[in-house]
Amino acid sequence: AQLEKGGYPHFMLKEIMEQPATIRDCIRGRIYDNGTKIFLNGVNHFKEKFLNVNRIVIVACGTSWHASLIGKRMFQELAHIPVTVEYASEFRYGTSLLTPNDIVIAVSQSGETADTLAAIKMAHESGAFVYGICNVIGSSISREADTGTYIHVGPEIGVASTKAFTGQVTVLAMLAVAVGNLRGTISDAEVSQIATAISNLPELIGKTLNLNEKIEDLSKIYTYVHNFLYLGRGYNYPTALEGALKLKEISYIHAEGYPAAEMKHGPIALIDEMMPTVVIAPQDDLHDKIISNIQQVKARGGKVIAVINENDREISQIADDILEIPSVPDCISPIISSIPLQLLAYHIAIRKGCNVDMPRNLAKSVTVE
Ligand code: G6P
Repeated sequence: AQLEKGGYPHFMLKEIMEQPATIRDCIRGRIYDNGTKIFLNGVNHFKEKFLNVNRIVIVACGTSWHASLIGKRMFQELAHIPVTVEYASEFRYGTSLLTPNDIVIAVSQSGETADTLAAIKMAHESGAFVYGICNVIGSSISREADTGTYIHVGPEIGVASTKAFTGQVTVLAMLAVAVGNLRGTISDAEVSQIATAISNLPELIGKTLNLNEKIEDLSKIYTYVHNFLYLGRGYNYPTALEGALKLKEISYIHAEGYPAAEMKHGPIALIDEMMPTVVIAPQDDLHDKIISNIQQVKARGGKVIAVINENDREISQIADDILEIPSVPDCISPIISSIPLQLLAYHIAIRKGCNVDMPRNLAKSVTVE
């Protein structure tokens, strides 16, 4: 078993650390011409579907649902297609209003989640086109879908999803760009800019993983905390949800992810020196806005751990602890910013003596309702 873990003490750490390689596998053959173009079979074979699409509904559960929320923003920004994201369990028992011109994208690491499978069966009944984004080759969802794209990150053993999340977001980015290019909503120059940035991800993820020691140190301070708040905006609002989920799943510390501006409608009431806030705040469109959210936390005595771009002087001065990540285009930022959050959850859970690979009450894939 030690061999299978590649020398790491746990599958989760191995899977976090191997992300430079898994993202390389995920983009292999799909980004070409020196990183300037994107090709996905599923889009190429079904161009008409994407040209005539009325709306996209993404169905998923758990971590895959968080990746889907990022995908929504990508499709709306880059391909100008209206998107809704649904928990598969809710969608399957609701009024779907799907039409044959809708595309349902099912995102699932295992490809076996019962609710997601049921949601795509329902999609088929209404004549909608189904696109699968799975990791496990030949899984039920990949077989039921009309077409799709594998994330190709290799087997994920740790119950808490890490490399599958970054793979899903990478595939959703390639998909949104390819579809946007097809529909003429983004220029060739923009395609090339994002494709190049995606090609550079393996190297930048490698750099980000150098934070491991710093995060291990930081985890000492936060092991005995009972509640955490995670805040982000825009593309990194779902990153905040995912960071909080990782911590809950493996350390059993209560954590809530929130869109930073919504804090004033509730969670701000909880802030005191005993509840640290992790803020995901790269220098994107919403940078100024999130600085004021950090100030609101500080003004109430809250401790702030900020995930920021290198050389962000403004936030380094106000945050209690900073984790610096390389800068990338906004839409792919979660692929980098989620990594320190994976490591933070891991190290806190280890310090608490938790079984990170097999947390209590959780299953790797939920094949029953
Ligand atoms: C379980 C796993 C999660 C996963 C979710 C959805 O809860 O523990 O890690 O995100 O199922 O699984 P799927 O295989 O459909 O992505």
